[in-house]
Amino acid sequence: MSDSHPKVLLTGATGFVGGRLLPALLEAGLSTRCLVRSAERFRKPGTGGPGFETVEGDLLDPGSLARALEGMDAAFYLVHSMGGRSISRYRDYIDRDIRAAENFVRAADAAGVKRIIYLGGLGETGDNLSDHLSSRQMVGEILQSGRVQTTALRAANIIGAGGAPFEMLRYLVERIPLMVCPRWIDTKCQPIAIQNVIEYLLGCLLQPAAAGLTLDIGGPDIITYRDLMLIYARARGLKRVIVTVPVLTPKLSSYWINLITPVPAGVVMPLVEGLKNEVICKDNRILDLVPIRLIPMEEAVCMALAEISEGPGRIPSMQSCLIRDV
Ligand SMILES: NC(=O)c1ccc[n+]([C@@H]2O[C@H](COP(=O)([O-])OP(=O)(O)OC[C@H]3O[C@@H](n4cnc5c(N)ncnc54)[C@H](OP(=O)(O)O)[C@@H]3O)[C@@H](O)[C@H]2O)c1
Repeated sequence: MSDSHPKVLLTGATGFVGGRLLPALLEAGLSTRCLVRSAERFRKPGTGGPGFETVEGDLLDPGSLARALEGMDAAFYLVHSMGGRSISRYRDYIDRDIRAAENFVRAADAAGVKRIIYLGGLGETGDNLSDHLSSRQMVGEILQSGRVQTTALRAANIIGAGGAPFEMLRYLVERIPLMVCPRWIDTKCQPIAIQNVIEYLLGCLLQPAAAGLTLDIGGPDIITYRDLMLIYARARGLKRVIVTVPVLTPKLSSYWINLITPVPAGVVMPLVEGLKNEVICKDNRILDLVPIRLIPMEEAVCMALAEISEGPGRIPSMQSCLIRDV
């Protein structure tokens, strides 16, 4: 994109990642239009000035997308369809995510958008990849199949207050002194601080060489989920014991995680299914394309805890409803 101040459409502005990207876009002086399903529920940023607007739309309603994308140079795709309280119908998100991405890429092509930046998940196809991680990759492929140059970023779990994976971790470690976990506890992952994710999203928009690429993003630490839980426990001064048992299936663990955390079943079930898959960066081109300081996990957890201690009002997204006293 030649324009150094592109007009940007932000989808997912009410979400964990989008809610934090919005102030960063406005601070960078970028004209930003937020596509939200309900303008009434959307907590607008205090910094919203003349370069800020909101449009109501739904990625599952193709008719609402043309108006949202009109005149936009670039778009952030920070949407997924997981959710709801139903345990039996939690897989419905797969079909919705495909339809949403197909609608979006068609509308973006028609509107002449030059760049899309999508944030999906890490994990390797063919590696018995979970439905959730496969679906995230499929969305990336659909978005990259259009004429618009799409950057697909792939991340493991993001550490930040209000994010579903972090809130699951927080409630589990806070509430259970002796944890009986299945084998996934020793799967390797490369979590990343939300602050670094925002830097990468913005950095990719402003870095022409990132156009059209699929790039892995991760923090500086490759650790197991057990390590992550113990890092959290140390940061909070909690003594925690984790015992591994071979018999606990991901499905069973998602049932009890569902009981213990306020994260909806429709999010817990797909995320827990993915814990069996290693999520580690294989392609590190991002380090040269967007050089930033990567935040170590101890520091990322402490930053998230500091935000939580300031109360839900500090969290710029609807996900602040997850920030309750444990
Ligand atoms: N959180 C993580 O740790 C993590 C890790 C790796 C990758 N990612 C990726 O980051 C992206 C954003 O995730 P997140 O954690 O920010 O999710 P989130 O907090 O659950 O937010 C999801 C957003 O999608 C919007 N949305 C859902 N369906 C929509 C539709 N049909 N039309 C328009 N908007 C719709 C929601 O709007 P409503 O408010 O209207 O529901 C919400 O703003 C996703 O692609 C996810 O896979 C997240």
